[in-house]
Amino acid sequence: MINDTAKPAGKGRMTTGDSHVIEHYAMGDLGETILRTLRDMGKDTNALTPEDLAPVDAMHIRGREATVALAKHVGLEPGMRVLDVGCGLGGTSRHLAVEYDCHVTGVDLTEEYCQVASLLSDRLHLADRTEFRQGSGTDLPFEDHSFDVIWTEHVQMNIAAKSDFYGEMVRVLNPGGRLAFHDVFRGAGGDVVYPVPWAEDASISHLMAVEELEQQLRSLELKKVYWEDCTRVSAEWFGRAVQRVQKHGLPPMGVRLLMGPTARQKLINMSHNLQAGHVTVIEAVLSR
Ligand SMILES: C[S@@+](CC[C@H](N)C(=O)[O-])C[C@H]1O[C@@H](n2cnc3c(N)ncnc32)[C@H](O)[C@@H]1O
Repeated sequence: MINDTAKPAGKGRMTTGDSHVIEHYAMGDLGETILRTLRDMGKDTNALTPEDLAPVDAMHIRGREATVALAKHVGLEPGMRVLDVGCGLGGTSRHLAVEYDCHVTGVDLTEEYCQVASLLSDRLHLADRTEFRQGSGTDLPFEDHSFDVIWTEHVQMNIAAKSDFYGEMVRVLNPGGRLAFHDVFRGAGGDVVYPVPWAEDASISHLMAVEELEQQLRSLELKKVYWEDCTRVSAEWFGRAVQRVQKHGLPPMGVRLLMGPTARQKLINMSHNLQAGHVTVIEAVLSR
């Protein structure tokens, strides 16, 4: 049975491991760097659109295309309250707010990302439909049953406490609500080759097998509404990214910006990890 005992809203408390994850993602000057990069790409930063931002604010495999595809299976409706856990720079939050007329709250461990997400939403005049706050996905700073939809993309691979992460998302989800995720899991093909976009080495990478994921979801009594293994399309996407890098020498601006000096190696390794079955990618929607 689901434990429905009311638990006070978490405080977004962090663990020691969390500080290493923040070190991996934080840059210190990301807001200004993004705006400068967009200007260098010929964009008018006073008249930005969500599409302008997609090369830098969709920090997951297949970029905005993956978000668009998954959102179609969620049953989003105008006025719904959505929580984007590990929202990064808020690209997905803004997409859902604009396309589905929802109110989206993003929560992320990395304070700088929350600040930049707010700055970008301000620039797009979306501050009334999106809000961002710092907090941990393992101790969500929200009351029970606060959201109609919980969304998470490419976050849990940095989280060791899987049952806290999934348990917290279910706690804040309304009965009858939906959990949507697009995520990376351990494949059967052997050890992951590092660096990868979420970790320079294995120390902050916590991949679980799909069987363990399914066990987590069963224990929370979540029912599958949609389930798709995206490993092949993800491998093809990284394969094309590697080909472009081999042709042009450098990864695209957005990738370099967010993946740092090892960006090129991360793309090559991900292409290999996906093709060799070291990792697998699942997108899914479950109902509570
Ligand atoms: C690869 S990025 C994905 C960002 C966003 N979901 C997207 O797809 O654009 C991973 C994000 O997860 C966040 N994160 C990692 N561990 C977290 C945790 N315990 N709680 C909340 N956010 C976390 C990181 O700060 C980072 O912003």
